[in-house]
Amino acid sequence: MLILGIDTSCDDTAASLLNISDEKVELVTNIVSSQNELHGVYGGIVPELASRRHIEAIWQVVDRALSGAGLGELSAISVCAGPGLIGSLLIGCSFAKAVSYLKGIPLVAVNHIEGHILSVFLEMGGGTAPPAFPFLALVASGGHTCLYRVEGFLKYAELGRTRDDAAGEAFDKVSKLLGLGYPGGPAIDALAGQGDPAAMRFPRAYLPGTFDFSFSGLKTAVRLALKDITPKEQAMLMPDIAASFQSAVVDVLVRKTQWAIKKQRIKRLAVSGGVASNSELRRRMKEMASEMDAELFIPPPALCADNAGMIAYAGYHHLRAGDIAGLDLNPKARLPL
Ligand code: KG4
Ligand code: ZN
Repeated sequence: MLILGIDTSCDDTAASLLNISDEKVELVTNIVSSQNELHGVYGGIVPELASRRHIEAIWQVVDRALSGAGLGELSAISVCAGPGLIGSLLIGCSFAKAVSYLKGIPLVAVNHIEGHILSVFLEMGGGTAPPAFPFLALVASGGHTCLYRVEGFLKYAELGRTRDDAAGEAFDKVSKLLGLGYPGGPAIDALAGQGDPAAMRFPRAYLPGTFDFSFSGLKTAVRLALKDITPKEQAMLMPDIAASFQSAVVDVLVRKTQWAIKKQRIKRLAVSGGVASNSELRRRMKEMASEMDAELFIPPPALCADNAGMIAYAGYHHLRAGDIAGLDLNPKARLPL
């Protein structure tokens, strides 16, 4: 069956066409219209501008995702209904409701975090099979940093989450402090490659005994370190600061995930969300997984970042379970999984 996925939860307008059955998963198209250049000048997302840009982009993006298929050929339309920016979510949900009503096709509502968790079931590259259940899932993005135990499709138990900033948010805020622009993750990732991760000792909040995370103290530590040095010194030390900060984030994500593997006695780990594109995180997770003799699943970067393929895929499982949304669907900025 053909499922159209739509995600407008944040600053990317995304639509995908998924051809799926119990035997195969084919991501026919995966279109993402980024708003980075729009928000870059402000050093972060401006919600009002984001929702306006979604309105302008959505028809074009859906049209490209359909790639010639007619709306009438769709078996369902799957839309992200939260969590996210409410003005942005409303655009995707209103659009999806209109298509569902006009064409008489089922509407399915998907939680954005669920989409990220299930992104490992899309094309993994190299013919890798998806994880068997149960598995652990770390979702690290701009809005979320959470660890789950996944028992099956639609069966997620949260083990921990960030108590303050998300990992990606820390990358974005530190990038702003360093004058590297938005989004911060890719800029810091690139610069860190030329720096010494041991140059500066930034704090790591391990929050022992919990699976929770905290990154706001780290961000403050970087801000305080910058106060003590001249702009000339800062310019020289930029790669070292980037590498030291990145290594603090990666240390925490890797150590806490390793602890979850031990405590939960599950040797299958999926890592997703925009931060899972980070080259150092990918390298260190691989190292840790092989040390623990655990299977590791990380989607290619295009599927780590926000995309609608993951929304269409999660929608398929809701559809199979008979979980159909009504036209009274209301997106929610905060939506527990
Ligand atoms: O999953 P995503 O596209 O959107 C949300 O759901 O938030 O994640 C975006 C986040 C941003 O904070 C961005 O800076 C971060 O992912 N990110 C990275 C990298 N690429 C994107 N963080 C670290 N290293 C990267 N290479
Ligand atoms: Zn996301």
